Amino acid sequence: MTETARDIVDKDLSYLCQNLREEFGSMGGKRLLIVGGAGFLGYYLIQSVLFWNETEGAAKPIRVTVYDNYIRGVPQWLSGLKGNPNLTLVTQDISQPLPADMPDFQYIIHAGSIASPVYYRKYPIETMDANVGGLRSLLEYAKGRVKAGKAFDGFLFYSSSEIYGDPTPDFIPTPETYRGNVSCTGPRACYDESKRYGETLCVNFMQQHGLPIKVARPFNNYGPGLKITDTRVLPDFARDVFAGRDIVMRSDGSPKRTFCYVADAVAGYYKVLVKGRPGEAYNIGIEKPEISVAQLADTVAAIGRDLFGYKGKVVRKVDADYLVDNPERRQPIITKARQELGYNPTILVDEGLRRSMVWYSGNREATEA
Ligand SMILES: NC(=O)c1ccc[n+]([C@@H]2O[C@H](COP(=O)([O-])OP(=O)(O)OC[C@H]3O[C@@H](n4cnc5c(N)ncnc54)[C@H](O)[C@@H]3O)[C@@H](O)[C@H]2O)c1
Repeated sequence: MTETARDIVDKDLSYLCQNLREEFGSMGGKRLLIVGGAGFLGYYLIQSVLFWNETEGAAKPIRVTVYDNYIRGVPQWLSGLKGNPNLTLVTQDISQPLPADMPDFQYIIHAGSIASPVYYRKYPIETMDANVGGLRSLLEYAKGRVKAGKAFDGFLFYSSSEIYGDPTPDFIPTPETYRGNVSCTGPRACYDESKRYGETLCVNFMQQHGLPIKVARPFNNYGPGLKITDTRVLPDFARDVFAGRDIVMRSDGSPKRTFCYVADAVAGYYKVLVKGRPGEAYNIGIEKPEISVAQLADTVAAIGRDLFGYKGKVVRKVDADYLVDNPERRQPIITKARQELGYNPTILVDEGLRRSMVWYSGNREATEA
């Protein structure tokens, strides 16, 4: 293995900045608030902007503020960025009242919500509070700015592909127009329904108050920044590989997904923020290949063997409770984002998984915390 974890991150950050020249260019000199920036998606949302500021954006840097409750502490990668003049870290639970002295933000990204099914099932009320009450406070802040005649350029709410629930077969792949097949009381409802209500809030604030609010619906992102202890499927498999034990699947391996590498997805999110039409939701993911969880496990095992001499095998330990309301298939149609925003994911799952495993190999201590 010649490439290091640092090489992977540098390559991804260059790729992001190349893809986002126009978007970052138009954000230059402005203030961006990222709520939930200490999480997985925050890893590249923040670092790509700081990388831009150090390279092409040096004359007009984008100033980033992060609000997060740091429920699992400030991650090492983020504390390592302290001291950057264009980054401010604030401890803020978004379900609590906003600070009275908020600066003038022209852009807001609301990514502050537990996203891992194991954790949102454990903290369902906190999950709803962040996606509903937290979102409402941020929308009120944006409304106040617009009412006061101040510039406000863009608001991005992170919804989820989970708002579609378990689509009927004729809606695979899934377009934005599909209305969903969702339980409002099942174990995942705290997440799915609060994202659905969040989208409704966004559309109505846009219509009533003329705010530039846009919505992204992520489909199964993975890659650098996703903590190995997060309990989503790839980190679980990676953890098994690095522990030298068999890879354990919690299903029979049949559920299928199209996995979207995080550098592609983050390019999509900034495109939605800057170029998306107000009141519109965009699927952000990748159309192909659609692979089963069993294929994912086999690929991770094969990469483990090639790069790290892994000797384990893949085993099934079906967890019926975990699987309640777990969708069988998840595959997006992304034509809307392609045509309207120029979104164009290019990193296919074999390459994305290789990069992820190299990244995990160089970030074991940081990610086990
Ligand atoms: N990663 C994906 O594939 C995916 C898929 C669908 C939707 N999303 C959505 O994207 C957003 C970010 O996802 P992620 O994968 O980075 O999640 P994550 O769990 O890794 O990070 C979320 C961050 O939000 C913070 N947070 C949670 N509740 C908060 C609160 N009340 N106040 C302040 N901060 C809070 C957490 O501390 C964490 O740093 C979430 O809204 C999630 O629902 C992600």
